[in-house]
Amino acid sequence: MLKENRLHSLGIMAVCLLLLLMMMMMLFGCVKASSLEKSLVWPSKDTQCVHLLKHLQNGITVQMPPNIQGHWVSTSCEVRPGPEFLTRSYHFFHNNTFKALQFYYADNHCSTPSYSLQVRGRLRLRQPSWIVRGGTEADYQIHSMHLVCHSASAARELGCASWQPNISYELWSDCGCALNFSMHELQLLRLEKQYLHHGLDQLLEELYLGDIHTEAAQRMLYRPSSYQPALQNAQNHDASCVVCRIVSRSDEFEPPVLPPRPELTVTLSGQWASRRCEVRPEVLFLTRHFIFHDSNHTWEGHYYHYSDPACKHPTFSLFARGRYSHGLRSTHVMGGTDFVFKGQSSTHLTGFFQLLAHKIFTHHIIA
Ligand SMILES: *[C@@H]1O[C@H](CO)[C@@H](O)[C@H](O)[C@H]1NC(C)=O
Ligand SMILES: *[C@@H]1O[C@H](CO)[C@@H](O)[C@H](O)[C@H]1NC(C)=O
Ligand SMILES: *[C@@H]1O[C@H](CO)[C@@H](O)[C@H](O)[C@H]1NC(C)=O
Ligand SMILES: *[C@@H]1O[C@H](CO)[C@@H](O)[C@H](O)[C@H]1NC(C)=O
Repeated sequence: MLKENRLHSLGIMAVCLLLLLMMMMMLFGCVKASSLEKSLVWPSKDTQCVHLLKHLQNGITVQMPPNIQGHWVSTSCEVRPGPEFLTRSYHFFHNNTFKALQFYYADNHCSTPSYSLQVRGRLRLRQPSWIVRGGTEADYQIHSMHLVCHSASAARELGCASWQPNISYELWSDCGCALNFSMHELQLLRLEKQYLHHGLDQLLEELYLGDIHTEAAQRMLYRPSSYQPALQNAQNHDASCVVCRIVSRSDEFEPPVLPPRPELTVTLSGQWASRRCEVRPEVLFLTRHFIFHDSNHTWEGHYYHYSDPACKHPTFSLFARGRYSHGLRSTHVMGGTDFVFKGQSSTHLTGFFQLLAHKIFTHHIIA
């Protein structure tokens, strides 16, 4: 009883870990107490995670069509397939033009800037998306693109050793093709508003933009069908978001330098649940709840599917279990850990878990 109580208060006091898993998969660690785990039989219902999943979307409103005018910034060092590590700072103006700054890095903490892109153009919001319910479609045109390298080695890697560091070069659209660069993320938008109740009632605005294709070569053709991690409005970002503050003050000549973090080892042990109603490229809305047992390397996963983007109307759920390997340091993704998952009860899920095994597991402690 004591152990269980302690476990609950630990969970409530949020010794919480945030897993950055693929582009849109954010998981929330509700209970992280591996020393208690052995003596505990997990109650199947009414755990902290189940409670969290039931109240995920409470208090969130979606604005359609979204009014996106303003300045929007990344809340963390983002990872794109490749891997690419970047932060973003986007301005949308009253006259339907935009200025998008993307800062790229040589490391997974976003503390060593390699180059920055400044893209200017025009954006026109269109109709509500019928492919991704709850999203709005848009068209864009690029008017100009500028690139600043922050080191000679970055310039060499981009194939242009003649570019001097800290000088802005205009790229023509064929250069964009060579980089396989596109701003197709602007083709799908979703704006969520929420009042945070800690202390003063503060408005939090989050802007979700379309996802990026896993393969660089496909990015020029791919139309987004899910989202990247949200940007926050720089004017009223969450006060605890240090990254927001650093990114909002930066430009292409003074790129954001995020403080380096210790490299944490990934221990999956415990229970993990979605932090939001997730959207998958196959246009599925779902929430997930995983239980990992480190003692015998087995896992269980509950997948709750919904017909709507607020995850209010359940359609079906899947249960899967299996085994997983010891985590090995990823040779592809800096700071990542590879796991191999084997499903036992559903071949349908096998494809997903093979994919998962190659994706990044980065921990952030958010007390
Ligand atoms: C649109 O507004 C921005 C910011 O006010 C300004 O920098 C830009 O020149 C304007 N563009 C056009 C085409 O009016
Ligand atoms: C860009 O895409 C083309 C195919 O369209 C591919 O051959 C090339 O390697 C890609 N470039 C980069 C930098 O990924
Ligand atoms: C480029 O600018 C950055 C940031 O302002 C600075 O730290 C760096 O020393 C500069 N590099 C060169 C080669 O001037
Ligand atoms: C693995 O261990 C957990 C608890 O440590 C237990 O509940 C579960 O039944 C075990 N699974 C197998 C397949 O032994």
